[in-house]
Amino acid sequence: FSFYSPVKDTVVVNDRWGSGIPCHHGGYFTCQDRYNPGKLQNRKWENAMTLDKAAWGYRRNTNLHDYVTMEELVATLAETVSCGGNILINVGPTHDGRITPIFEERLRNLGKWLKVNGEAIYGSRPWNYQNDTVTPNVWYTKNLATSTVYAVVLDWPKNDKLFLGAPTLKDSATITMLGVPGTLYFKRSSLWGITVNFPKLTPDILPCQWAWVLKMQGVTN
Ligand SMILES: *[C@@H]1O[C@H](CO)[C@@H](O)[C@H](O)[C@H]1NC(C)=O
Repeated sequence: FSFYSPVKDTVVVNDRWGSGIPCHHGGYFTCQDRYNPGKLQNRKWENAMTLDKAAWGYRRNTNLHDYVTMEELVATLAETVSCGGNILINVGPTHDGRITPIFEERLRNLGKWLKVNGEAIYGSRPWNYQNDTVTPNVWYTKNLATSTVYAVVLDWPKNDKLFLGAPTLKDSATITMLGVPGTLYFKRSSLWGITVNFPKLTPDILPCQWAWVLKMQGVTN
């Protein structure tokens, strides 16, 4: 037998086609629903998740707390992409084919967030560190073509000062926040790590909600 496929270079196959297959065989791994390992994987993988935390289909009896919040959605996206995963975001249409407004709102909001921050996500690759070594809830990606490292910061730092333990920066390095004009002041610590001053932004000029992205050029590690 020959198992040559004429579409082997254009079709990608998941791991959901037989018993004992998930997480073992396939073009990419999805393992269980909402698989999100939080660390770099040896194989290409996908986080197949749903905006209704309990179901793939539409449910008439959902409660508000059954829906993934925007904070959770952006966090899940950042974590997944930083660890080299693809994300599949499912919504269940009603029996007559409608997407209910709460699903629509989540998807449109994610689109708004990506309009500002998409360059940290699309075409990105995992960096040497997936999340920061010191500050929780900071997830990194890298654009290989431009050697740019991005930090997705899920929590706005107290006093507008963020310490990052992972990146080493050149003297000539620059840091900007996506959607905000100008560069940000940063200071290297004597041993390792940097402190970045977040911009003084008021709600009317905030580029986005839910998470903010630092774009770092001149990272040497
Ligand atoms: C980074 O992520 C890992 C895996 O999810 C976690 O165990 C670790 O605590 C995180 N680091 C920080 C500083 O939060």
